[in-house]
Amino acid sequence: MRKLRRIAVLTSGGDAPGMNAAVRAVVRCAAAYGMETYGVSDGYAGLLAGRLRLLDDRSVGGILHRGGTILGTSRCLEFHTSETRQRAIVELERRKIGALVVIGGNGTQQGAATLDALGVPVIGVASTIDNDLVGADVSIGSTTAVEIALECIDRLRTTASSHGRAFLVEVMGRNCGYLALASGIAGGAEAIVLPEVETDPERVANEIRASYERGKSHAIIVVAEGARYNGDKIAHYFQEHSQRLGFELRLTKLGHIQRGGSPCAFDRILGSRLGAAAIEQLHGGIHGILLGYKQGGVVPTALGVVATSTKTIELSLLKLAQVLAQ
Ligand code: F6P
Repeated sequence: MRKLRRIAVLTSGGDAPGMNAAVRAVVRCAAAYGMETYGVSDGYAGLLAGRLRLLDDRSVGGILHRGGTILGTSRCLEFHTSETRQRAIVELERRKIGALVVIGGNGTQQGAATLDALGVPVIGVASTIDNDLVGADVSIGSTTAVEIALECIDRLRTTASSHGRAFLVEVMGRNCGYLALASGIAGGAEAIVLPEVETDPERVANEIRASYERGKSHAIIVVAEGARYNGDKIAHYFQEHSQRLGFELRLTKLGHIQRGGSPCAFDRILGSRLGAAAIEQLHGGIHGILLGYKQGGVVPTALGVVATSTKTIELSLLKLAQVLAQ
């Protein structure tokens, strides 16, 4: 096995709190093995444009507590064509970079799987607030995002209870209901609407009415942005039928607030562990895998599997939320 002397690291797709911890761990653990690390600016777009810089131990100092990614990120649609991927490979070869660590979510890991299949040794690191990656029970950033959503839900509950109102809170997550489910359970939501379980607005109204009949004075409904009836659609329905339904609903969309701010301790530790593990694997000559946190440890899953599978969420937790909302 040839000794790996130079690697590159990039972050791609939506940023996630804890990405910096992973970058820092990659750079410092690689240095401990005598490898040089190049940081790619702005994900795959920066790789195509040849925007890489050498990172040393000091250049990743003071970033552990910072949200986002110091490398910058992008959604690079161009990278889906084989011609552009070839350009990326040429760019890496030109700089004698022997392997790539790719930190990001679903779309990012699909690009990683293709690059690895084309002969570039790649290790993926599971990082997305959506927590929708096969190969990770919890991905970098999702715990912080749940904490942020929860803080907002708690704040909304204060005013909801003062005014005896119903609030609809829309959270991110793309097509995955994890963020809604987790923040809904933690926030004691009266109803949770997920992409995975079609829930029409009339059903939401029935659940809220039933909770008022049980003596509750206010309600919080958490809805995932990817649900068929998302925040706008449910709010619109309630407005149209307000006379018949007998109560109004106020909508708050949390949006990108959920991706910002400092990573929580768990995400800093997770980023550090996964970044370090990526280097361990490359040092051992292993690539073509995504590293994720599963059942309490760092677990590899083939990138090819990650790129072609869809993660399911634990729907029994929705039933639990419904029971606990009584
Ligand atoms: O994938 C992370 C995520 O925040 C999703 O939850 C959301 O749908 C999407 O990114 C938003 O993307 P953008 O920041 O490109 O608008």
